[in-house]
Amino acid sequence: MKREALIGALDLGSTKTCAIIAEARGDGKTPKARVLGVGMARSSGVKYGAVRDIEETTATIERAMRDAERMAGVKVPNVFCGVAAENTHWQMETGLASVTSDEIRRQDTDRVDEVARAVSLGDGYELLHSIAQEYKVDSQGGISDPVGMTGLRLEVEMCLIGVHAQAAQNLGRSVKKAGYTVGELVLEPLAASLAVLTSDEKELGCALVDMGGDSTTVAIFHDGKLRHVESVRFAGARITSDLVQGLSVTQADAERIKERWGSAYTPAVNPDEMIELPGTAGQGPRGAKRELVAHIIQERVDEVFGLMLGEIEKAGYAGRLPAGVILTGGGSQLHGIVELGREVFAMPVRRGAPESGISGLVDSVQAPRYAVPVGLALYGARRRVRYDDYGGGSVGRILGPVKRWLQEFF
Ligand SMILES: Nc1ncnc2c1ncn2[C@@H]1O[C@H](COP(=O)(O)OP(=O)(O)OP(=O)(O)O)[C@@H](O)[C@H]1O
Ligand SMILES: [Mg+2]
Repeated sequence: MKREALIGALDLGSTKTCAIIAEARGDGKTPKARVLGVGMARSSGVKYGAVRDIEETTATIERAMRDAERMAGVKVPNVFCGVAAENTHWQMETGLASVTSDEIRRQDTDRVDEVARAVSLGDGYELLHSIAQEYKVDSQGGISDPVGMTGLRLEVEMCLIGVHAQAAQNLGRSVKKAGYTVGELVLEPLAASLAVLTSDEKELGCALVDMGGDSTTVAIFHDGKLRHVESVRFAGARITSDLVQGLSVTQADAERIKERWGSAYTPAVNPDEMIELPGTAGQGPRGAKRELVAHIIQERVDEVFGLMLGEIEKAGYAGRLPAGVILTGGGSQLHGIVELGREVFAMPVRRGAPESGISGLVDSVQAPRYAVPVGLALYGARRRVRYDDYGGGSVGRILGPVKRWLQEFF
């Protein structure tokens, strides 16, 4: 196996640190990742996507990477690392350039993109991604790639995503202390989209909703491009604390009850079904209706979905997402959540787990909570195979096509 085909992917979530070692496969058109090793460590060093405890985070990275490397039988020096939407800032910019030859060439789009990127992202932010939303040629808009067209004036509307520099540095420090380097930082919903969305869904228009431990994020795709991302601080952990309150049980028992008996859709639960609630210091074990558990969970998930729908409306995509909503992340493993989603969003809803583009230890990662780490591995694979495609020559020759790929990819 060629060393340069090896990829390390690292998802620093608020409940878990997940590492994946994979091998880049496929070609520039259909990059694939062969999963060689997976490691997971429970984490409490990250809150709302930001490192709050470098020692703790470093320790979880060491554990997760060690387990993944042991399973893969190989070591990797650097990792593609996810950045939570919470730590990013979005701004729309336009670029303008005159066309100097008969028809528009790639150099012209690269130049106009450069103009759009040459702005300040505000204090404390660094450029993470830039996504060309559309090009205009002599004021004719809605163009995704103007190369080969004729015109005098070229314009681009570009979405710049900035990452909070301090958050990025703390991520980098934790990774470095664990003995690795950050090869690249990648926006989590962008990574997750590679693992769970089909290209038809992105083209038609859909919303990817990632319900994690601390945060739920919605990412809207339309005409094949990422158009809008927003996150709220309500997710799986909040549901667990609702159960602690509502059932008077401990945190650990609430987590267990949620995963074992939990449902986000009361009509899907048998009203006569009883479950046993474990005793606490103050009271012994007792029976409770499963319906009560479902009721508590549905209240919260209904609220979260209402906020997601509000974001879709605010971004101007209400009624424009025929491919509907794809739910992912550990929180989406809740029983009945798809049924509730169909009621709240009044759109097609499905649960998304890593599927296409992966081989090897597929069974170990085929659950919604692996959407981000598998997506990071696929992102890395795309980077690698395109590098290979261009035969690994001079950096300039590589960067040009890679920049172009970034435009295509986003
Ligand atoms: N089977 C299940 N049923 C219900 N909830 C579940 C299940 N499995 C995991 N969860 C919940 O999913 C959440 C963790 O999801 P995930 O692993 O995607 O989070 P994370 O990436 O660590 O967090 P974040 O993205 O917020 O930083 C936890 O709250 C956990 O309780
Ligand atoms: Mg997550």
